[in-house]
Amino acid sequence: MKFFIDTANLDEIKEANDLGILDGVTTNPSLMAKENITGKQNITKHYRDICHEVNGPVSAEVIATDYKGIIEEGEILADLHHNIVVKVPMIPEGIKAIRHFSDNGIRTNCTLIFSAGQALLAAKAGATYVSPFIGRLDDISADGIALIAQMRRIFDNYAFDTEILAASVRHPMHIIECAELGADVMTGPLKAILQLSQHPLTDKGLEQFLADYNKGNK
Ligand code: G3P
Repeated sequence: MKFFIDTANLDEIKEANDLGILDGVTTNPSLMAKENITGKQNITKHYRDICHEVNGPVSAEVIATDYKGIIEEGEILADLHHNIVVKVPMIPEGIKAIRHFSDNGIRTNCTLIFSAGQALLAAKAGATYVSPFIGRLDDISADGIALIAQMRRIFDNYAFDTEILAASVRHPMHIIECAELGADVMTGPLKAILQLSQHPLTDKGLEQFLADYNKGNK
């Protein structure tokens, strides 16, 4: 499973990249705003900075919601750097745009996916990635992980090339369950990635090993 980090924070991106396990980055307008990155020029510069940091796909989201606007914006984003993947919302104009990008060799990430039907449409349009928001489904007492399982079955039935990018990941169990179900990619916060490394028995065992070493090597 590929690991993407879901942030626009360069320090967190660097920290995850330094672990040697990072395959890519996803951003969205809210994550950019959280880092106070505003204005077209600053946003463009920030995407370039992220692309220079990570050698892998970097999702950059369009703001336009009409077909022409999505195409114009997406082409500009794709030209910024070869790592850029154009993130397009799951709306009818977005589906048309994904088809256009796919036919023209521009990679896409179809975002705001909350149902298997939406995922199927995005895959048929030729999306490179589809992003089901599992945490936001859990937030409304729906089952985000069940959607990953349903999408995996559908995509496997028809051998779609589109990758399932589990998004809105909130905690380590989301990552583990997505891995068990065969999600191709997960994108989550640095905290959830680091939490995967933690176990009290690891801490206890390490403490004991070091204490025993120190006893014999005073
Ligand atoms: O990748 C999608 C993500 O940014 C949404 O996450 O935590 O805002 O639901 P969240």
